[in-house]
Amino acid sequence: MAKPLRLLICEDKDDDALLEVEELREWGFDPDYQRVDNAPDLELALKAGPWEAILADYNMPSFTGMDALRIVRSEGLDIPFLLVSGTVGEDRAVDAMKAGAHDYIMKGNLARLGPAVERELREAQMREERRQALEALQKAHDELEGRVQERTAELRDVNAALQAEAIKRQKAKEELRQANELLEQRVAERTAELAQSVDALEEEVLERELTEDELRQALEEVREKDSILIQQSRLAAMGEMIGNIAHQWRQPLNSLGLKVQQLLLFYDLGELSRDFLHKNEKESMKLIQHMSQTIDDFRNYFKPDKEKTEFKVHEAVARTLLLIEDSYINQHIRVEVDLQNDCVIYGYENEFAQVLLNILVNARDVFTEREVDDPRVMIHIGKDGNKALLTISDNAGGVPEEIMGKIFDPYFTTKGPQTGTGVGLFMSKAIIEKNMGGSLSVRNTCDGAEFRIEV
Ligand SMILES: Nc1ncnc2c1ncn2[C@@H]1O[C@H](COP(=O)(O)OP(=O)(O)OP(=O)(O)O)[C@@H](O)[C@H]1O
Ligand SMILES: [Mg+2]
Repeated sequence: MAKPLRLLICEDKDDDALLEVEELREWGFDPDYQRVDNAPDLELALKAGPWEAILADYNMPSFTGMDALRIVRSEGLDIPFLLVSGTVGEDRAVDAMKAGAHDYIMKGNLARLGPAVERELREAQMREERRQALEALQKAHDELEGRVQERTAELRDVNAALQAEAIKRQKAKEELRQANELLEQRVAERTAELAQSVDALEEEVLERELTEDELRQALEEVREKDSILIQQSRLAAMGEMIGNIAHQWRQPLNSLGLKVQQLLLFYDLGELSRDFLHKNEKESMKLIQHMSQTIDDFRNYFKPDKEKTEFKVHEAVARTLLLIEDSYINQHIRVEVDLQNDCVIYGYENEFAQVLLNILVNARDVFTEREVDDPRVMIHIGKDGNKALLTISDNAGGVPEEIMGKIFDPYFTTKGPQTGTGVGLFMSKAIIEKNMGGSLSVRNTCDGAEFRIEV
C-alpha cells in the first residue's frame, strides 16, 4: 500500500515537479503535493503545512534552492529538505549539505529520490522521536527538578520550622534553667533565712530562759524587799507607839508617884488611916490598870491579823485616833469626824488601822514641816454604793503636783533619811488594794490633801 506523503516542491517547471512525484509514486509513496516557485509562496505554504518533505530545484528564476533552504530553516522546521538539480558541482553540493540540506539529487538520476526521501523520512522520524524523547526527558527532568525544588522548599520550611522549634526548645530550656537557678537561689536564701531564724529563735529562747531566771530572781528580791518594808514599817509604827505609850504613861506615872509619896507624908503627919490607905490603893490600882490597858491596846494593835473579821470603820478610826491623840494634842491639831454611815468592813482590822495611822502621821508631819496655823484633819465615814468610803483630808496645802504620781512608790519620801523611810503610803496601798481588794487614792482639795479609801 502506498505511503501517503505531504510534499512541498519548490520548482518553476511543472513537468519536472510531476516527474519527481511520479518517481516517488513508483517508489511506493502517495504524494499529496504543492508546488511553489518564489519565496512568498513558500512562506505561505510553510504556514499552511504540515509538510513531510521538501524538494527544491537549485536554480529558479525568482529564488534559488539555497534561498528556500534558509527560509525553511528560519521557520525552525526540521523537515527533510532535498535539493534536486540538473547540473551541480561537487562544491555546491557540499555547501548545500553544510547549510542543512539532507541530500542532493541529480535530475538525471531521479532513481535515488525514492530511497533518499524514505531514508530522510526515517531519519526525520528518528530525529523527531529523539526530540520527543529529549523533550520527555527534559519534561521529566523539569518535573523532577520542580519536585526537587518543591521538596527542597518543603524541606526548607520543615527545616525552618525545626530550627524555630529547636530555638524555642533551647529558649524554653534556658528559661527552665534560669527558673531552676532562681529556685535554687531562693531555696538557698530561704534556707539561710530559716537557719538565721532558727539561730535567732535559739538565741531568744536562751535569752528568755535567762530573762525568766532574772525575773524569778528579781521577784524574789522584790518579795524580800517587801518583807523588809513590812518589817520597817512595823518598826516605824512601833516607834510611834512607844512614843505614845510613853506619853500616855507620863500622866498616870506622875499620879502614881504622887500616891507613893503621899504614903510617907501622911505617915509622918500621923494621918495614915486605914481608909486613906484603902483609897490610895484603889486609886493606884486604877492607874496601874489604865497603864496596863494601854499596853494591851498597843499589843493588840501590833498583832498581825491572821484572819479576816468584820469590824466597824468608826471603831477602827477611834482606836487609831487614841494612839495618836497625844501628839495631835501637843501640836494643837483638831480632828473632826463626820460619821454619816456606820459601815462595817470585812477584812484585817489591825492592818486597816495601820493605814489610818500612816495617813494621820503623814498629815501631822506636813503640819509641822509647813508650820500650818490652825491645823485640822477631817475624817468622813460614809458609803459609796455598797462600799465603805473613808476620806481623810487635811488643810496643809496638799501634795505638790510634781510628786503626786510618786508618793505611793516604795522608798519615796521628801523627808530626811532620819525622819522618813518612804514606805508608809506604799504599804498602805498594798494593804488596802492587795490584801483587802479595795482602793486607796489621793487628790488635792482647795486647802490640802485628801486620801480616799474604798473597801
Ligand atoms: N497629807 C500630805 N500632804 C502633803 N504631802 C504628803 C501628805 N502625805 C504624804 N505626803 C508626801 O508623800 C511622801 C510619802 O509618804 P510616805 O508615808 O509614803 O513616806 P514618808 O512619810 O515620807 O516616810 P514614812 O512614812 O515611811 O516614815 C511624803 O514624804 C510626803 O512628801
Ligand atoms: Mg509616812
